[in-house]
Parts: sequence; structure tokens; C-alpha cells
Amino acid sequence: MNLLRNKKIGLIGVGNMGASILRGVLKRKIATPSSVWVYDKIKSKAGHFARSYRVRWAASARELLQKTDIVIVAVKPQDFPVFAAENSSYVHPGHQVISILAGMTTEKIGKMLRGNKNVVRAMPNLGAKAGQSMTAICGKSKKALSLASALFSGCGEVVILPEKRMDLVTAVSGSGPAYFFHLMELLADFGVRQGLSPKTAQTLAVQTALGAALVAKHSKASCGELRQMVTSKKGTTDAALKALRRGKFKKTFCRALAAAVARSRELRRNA
Ligand SMILES: NC(=O)c1ccc[n+]([C@@H]2O[C@H](COP(=O)([O-])OP(=O)(O)OC[C@H]3O[C@@H](n4cnc5c(N)ncnc54)[C@H](OP(=O)(O)O)[C@@H]3O)[C@@H](O)[C@H]2O)c1
Repeated sequence: MNLLRNKKIGLIGVGNMGASILRGVLKRKIATPSSVWVYDKIKSKAGHFARSYRVRWAASARELLQKTDIVIVAVKPQDFPVFAAENSSYVHPGHQVISILAGMTTEKIGKMLRGNKNVVRAMPNLGAKAGQSMTAICGKSKKALSLASALFSGCGEVVILPEKRMDLVTAVSGSGPAYFFHLMELLADFGVRQGLSPKTAQTLAVQTALGAALVAKHSKASCGELRQMVTSKKGTTDAALKALRRGKFKKTFCRALAAAVARSRELRRNA
């Protein structure tokens, strides 16, 4: 059953993330273009998106809020207080508010939107651009969580977690694409230094990462088991992994993740 049928969906902030999420929703026909409204401070951005995907374009946030039931808020966290101050009076108790603002709790968003109780906080990641986001969502209203889950399934995988896990999620999957970019960057750099062309080195690195991710996604084995399966004793992979162990790679990487969790907590407290 399509939970979003007959729902009017609005997007506030047609930037990188908001546009990627909505593109997925429309591409997978989770919502019909005529039921989708977009609004951005930069009118040309909303207009361009509306023309490209045949969705409706609102001339103001007020108009969008008046015409929709589900509102995705995808502005930068620092822009949210101004948005809330100018528009909270148009948010009604039945509105399902889905925020992708990093670090802003459901409680804080609800308070700034006239005590709305249907706030869902989502942490998608850059994979949304390719319809492959990992999105974690949390919130108190079961109905709002079901609607948000249906919506984010348009741009990848969705998990529902308690809000206390969001700092951890931010460190693991929110910032996660950058860790994999860095690993691909290191693989490609090494290839170039050893004589490959940058293009070939990048292809080797990216296709290897893609293949590994797809095998892991479709396998019943854990990532640890898969690693063991491709590591023959005293072989080349074994030699590389032993060098990583000697260099305390695991300890360093865990320290990096702990730093991301700590920073997420800090940003949340200051938000
Ligand atoms: N990028 C990621 O990987 C990622 C991951 C998870 C969560 N997020 C969250 O996603 C949100 C959006 O990030 P983004 O990278 O997509 O930002 P973005 O590209 O800057 O998009 C935000 C858009 O909202 C517009 N805007 C600002 N204030 C507005 C208002 N009051 N009403 C309507 N539109 C307004 C901005 O216009 P101006 O450019 O003129 O300000 C911009 O077009 C952020 O809160 C971020 O924390 C991002």
C-alpha cells in the first residue's frame, strides 16, 4: 500500500539534499508530481526543479505550508530559526514535519514550530544523489515515522532508531561517504604514484569499491567474513592487511569515528 497516496508533500529548501530526496521519490513513483510542492528562498532554484520534474512551485513558504500535509525541511541548520520565526504560524498540528537538519533534535524543531508533535528527524547521506542514501529516522509519532520511511525509501535504505543514536549515525553513515572517498583517493593516488594514469587509477579504485559494496549488500556473510574469504594466508591481501594492523589502522579509525560522534554531540548542544 502506498502510504503517500493522497498526501500533499512539500519541500522547503531545494538544495543538494532536498532535491536529491525528492528526485528519488518522483523517479520511483512514490508520489505523483501533481501532489508535490517546492519552495526555496532562491526562486529560480525552485522554479527550475518544478519545471524539470513537473511538480508545483510555491511563491512562499506560507503557500507551501497551506497546501501540503507532509513538509520536508531541508534548509541549512543556521537558516532554520529565521524560517521558523517567519512561518511557524502556518504550521498546523496535523502537519507531518520531516527535518533533515543535522544536529537539531525533534524536541527543538517541534518547539520552534508551535509545539508540533509529528516531527521526524532524518539523517540521510550523500548517497541520496545516486538514489542510494542510508537514512536513519527517529521521532515519537508512529504515523509520521511510517510516512517518512515510505518517503526516504525513494532514495535508498531506511532504518528507524531511537533519537539517542543519532550522533552515532551521524558519525557512521552521515559522514560515512567521506571515509570511503578517502580510501578510494588513497588507492588511486598510490596507483598514480606507481605509474597508472589518473583516469585508470580512479576507475580501478571506484569500481573496486562499488563491487565490494554490492557483494557485501547481496551476501549473507558479514564484512569480516567476506574479508577473510578474500584473504589467502601469506598472499598479497594478507600482506597488506598485516601492514595495516602493524600501523594500528583499526585503533586510528575508531579514534576518528569517536571524534565524529563527539563533534556531532557538540554541534547538537550548540544548535
Ligand atoms: N549534505 C549532506 O551530506 C547532508 C547529510 C545529512 C543532512 N544534511 C542536512 O541537509 C540540509 C540541507 O543541506 P544541503 O547541503 O542540501 O544545503 P543547500 O544545498 O544549501 O540547500 C539548502 C537550500 O535552502 C535554501 N534556503 C535557505 N533558507 C531558506 C528558507 N528560509 N526558505 C526556503 N529555502 C531556504 C538555501 O538557499 P541559500 O543557498 O540562498 O541559503 C538553499 O537553496 C542541512 O540542514 C544539512 O544539515 C546534509
